[in-house]
Amino acid sequence: MATEQTVNRDGVGSPKDARDVLSVTDERTGETYELPITDGTIRASELRQIKVSDDDFGLMSYDPAFLNTASCRSAITWIDGDKGELWHRGIPIEQLCEHSTYLEVAYLLIYGELPTEDQLAQWVHDITIHTFVHENIKKFVEGFRYDAHPMGMLLASVGALSTFYPEAKHIMDPEERYLATIRLIAKMPTLAAFAYRHNRGLPYVYPDNDLRYPGNFLSMLFKMTELKYEPDPRLEKALDVLFILHADHEQNCSTNAVRAVGSSQVDPYSAVAAGVAALYGPLHGGANEAVLRMLARIGSTDKIPEFLEGVKRGDERLMGFGHRVYKNYDPRARIIKKHVDEVLEATGMNPALDIAVELEKRALDDDYFTSRKLYPNVDFYSGLIYQALQIPTDMFTVIFAIPRTAGWVSQWLEMVDDSEQKIARPRQIYTGGGPRDYVPMERR
Ligand code: ACO
Repeated sequence: MATEQTVNRDGVGSPKDARDVLSVTDERTGETYELPITDGTIRASELRQIKVSDDDFGLMSYDPAFLNTASCRSAITWIDGDKGELWHRGIPIEQLCEHSTYLEVAYLLIYGELPTEDQLAQWVHDITIHTFVHENIKKFVEGFRYDAHPMGMLLASVGALSTFYPEAKHIMDPEERYLATIRLIAKMPTLAAFAYRHNRGLPYVYPDNDLRYPGNFLSMLFKMTELKYEPDPRLEKALDVLFILHADHEQNCSTNAVRAVGSSQVDPYSAVAAGVAALYGPLHGGANEAVLRMLARIGSTDKIPEFLEGVKRGDERLMGFGHRVYKNYDPRARIIKKHVDEVLEATGMNPALDIAVELEKRALDDDYFTSRKLYPNVDFYSGLIYQALQIPTDMFTVIFAIPRTAGWVSQWLEMVDDSEQKIARPRQIYTGGGPRDYVPMERR
């Protein structure tokens, strides 16, 4: 029978009292280990002391897709999925959408505090004067096929920024970090609009620095022959709210990509390009487009019961419903819904809205959805707003990428300053064979 032995751990991370430990008994050896619990977690590296012999590598945890692994400590964004709460730097998203602007929220995400009046003026000024891109970027975008996906163009042009600003590789230099932060937030709408105009075969529109951040983006998208583009304030406001709602969402797929790539100490443009690439994927940035297709397919409110029966049979999913983290109404969906009416008042009614409202009502009355905690997510209504703004569906994910840049940059800055972070390098469970000898070609 194996003897029982307790292994205590001293030093940093030791439990404050006897309750803050996890006792683990390894039935292979009979040894018991006490692993400190801090912030509701154990350190995976603590498992390495659990060995069957001296030359054993030690126990690892296996967690594909990080379903139950905290990869960092972060003070930026908090989500309570059960309550349906989202805070940035402790401030609820509802208050930010009501009182703030996207650029102020970007400052909050990056610096951790709301700016004073002077700080905000300086911040907005610095971003505004960096909205132009090098003329060669235009030539670079011109090189794409006429029907290139705008997200592919954005991905390439954000990565290309690193070649225009090679000093950005000095990631420990505060001045360079500030410049990269400003440039990324400032130039992302310009790059996005260039991609859109390229698809349309329209001349590129230079930034108009008299306009506010969302208004300037609308101008770069839609300005034609008029001398000055005057954005409709209702549309500008709705776009600003959409930007706030998409600014950050803690350790999602693209943010994790920015952190992982940035952990190699590459320049921030390259790290953010990794975030754009991750967002490009349909499991991350593409659901709002699927909602519009679904609403078009349903066609009229009288077809909703039949459609929902099909969903319940498992024929398809109710797009824009459900979320891995939110098991309650996604707070962002509630806020967007309030702005849909204002936008449609400016642009004219969209019959798809009636279908969406009725669909939501019926689904929330149905035990299939409520028992599975399926509620509308951010994508249920956002596509309707983009459609009303006459933004083509290919551009939806690009518009997500513009505000998410503030989140990516703030998470990158936090990661660079975190003394616990090293190059991200997971372990694996090797499932291959070997060792075996190389077989020359003639003997295969
Ligand atoms: N319609 C119908 N049933 C659903 C839906 C849905 N939209 N979402 C989940 N379910 C059901 C599943 O069939 C499953 O039922 P079961 O227990 O009888 O098998 C149960 O609810 C749990 O579903 P999971 O797939 O385990 O939930 P998961 O957390 O893995 O998926 C996801 C979350 C991917 C968002 C899912 O709800 C979904 O596909 N929704 C539709 C797509 C969508 O709107 N995506 C946008 C998410 S928000 C964003 O990324 C910005």
